[in-house]
Amino acid sequence: MGDEPADALAALWPRSLADLAVVGACAFFGFTVPIALFDSTVLFTYHPTCMSLGFGLLMTLGVGAGLKLRALGPGAERVRALWVHAATQTLALFLALGGFVAIYRNKAIHDKPHFTTTHGKLGLLTIVLTVLSPTIGAVAFKRLGLLDAVPEQARPLVKAVHRRLGLVTWCAGALATSLALPHPAVDQGSLTSAWQVSVFVMCAGVAFWHFTEPKGARGDGFARLDKDSQS
Ligand code: HEM
Ligand code: HEM
Repeated sequence: MGDEPADALAALWPRSLADLAVVGACAFFGFTVPIALFDSTVLFTYHPTCMSLGFGLLMTLGVGAGLKLRALGPGAERVRALWVHAATQTLALFLALGGFVAIYRNKAIHDKPHFTTTHGKLGLLTIVLTVLSPTIGAVAFKRLGLLDAVPEQARPLVKAVHRRLGLVTWCAGALATSLALPHPAVDQGSLTSAWQVSVFVMCAGVAFWHFTEPKGARGDGFARLDKDSQS
């Protein structure tokens, strides 16, 4: 906070102890879940692998980028930071879809019923939101040209909906992930406890960024046309 960052890299690069803790938690969760569980011959393990990398690592850092780029004024650096956000989240979307296909196919092969657990139901909702969020995000990103097709008065609303939906999507993913960790097919004892701690650190970090990163001229209202409408 405090000083305005000069460029996209300065805005997105971890600066505080809190930033480093969240990045560390994302890396720990994103990489150690696949290391502990992945087996290329077992279809199920593609699910936690894709989800930990997609949600735990990429989507959390991508949401962090979305929140941190608020500090940038309008112009080329803000657009550059938005490209980083868009690329990270698009990759997260593909991993989430891959993880979903893996678990769905795995259940179908073993003739098990779908979406019976709380994790499975919330997971399905998260997948739907994970498709919707980047779709609206693509409309909200002026550089892609789609926002020009939206009536001018409705543009701030598109952006506001994407911002809110993006956060809700991430929260749903974090909750779904927490519910999955004690599952017998996943539980690794003290490593699982460390995963739970790392998901908690991510939640605290995203909440911290959300409340402390500057909102600039935009404020928090749905109807205000602001500097962001230019990108
Ligand atoms: C946000 C991330 C996640 C989403 C959206 C998600 C989504 C889902 C969905 C939709 C199902 C049910 C599939 C069906 O019934 O056909 C499922 C099952 C499962 N997932 Fe996840 N998952 C996520 C993260 C994880 C993680 C990180 C793990 C493990 C570390 C995991 C472990 C499991 C297990 C063990 C099942 C089978 C048991 C059950 O249906 O609850 N999931 N997941
Ligand atoms: C699941 C995927 C995504 C999630 C969870 C997500 C989440 C977010 C969040 C939380 C913010 C809010 C930052 C703030 O409060 O100012 C944001 C901003 C933004 N995102 Fe995304 N995003 C996703 C994908 C995308 C994609 C794919 C694009 C573009 C192709 C995109 C474009 C934008 C833009 C343009 C903004 C700034 C909106 C504004 O001007 O206020 N997002 N995103």
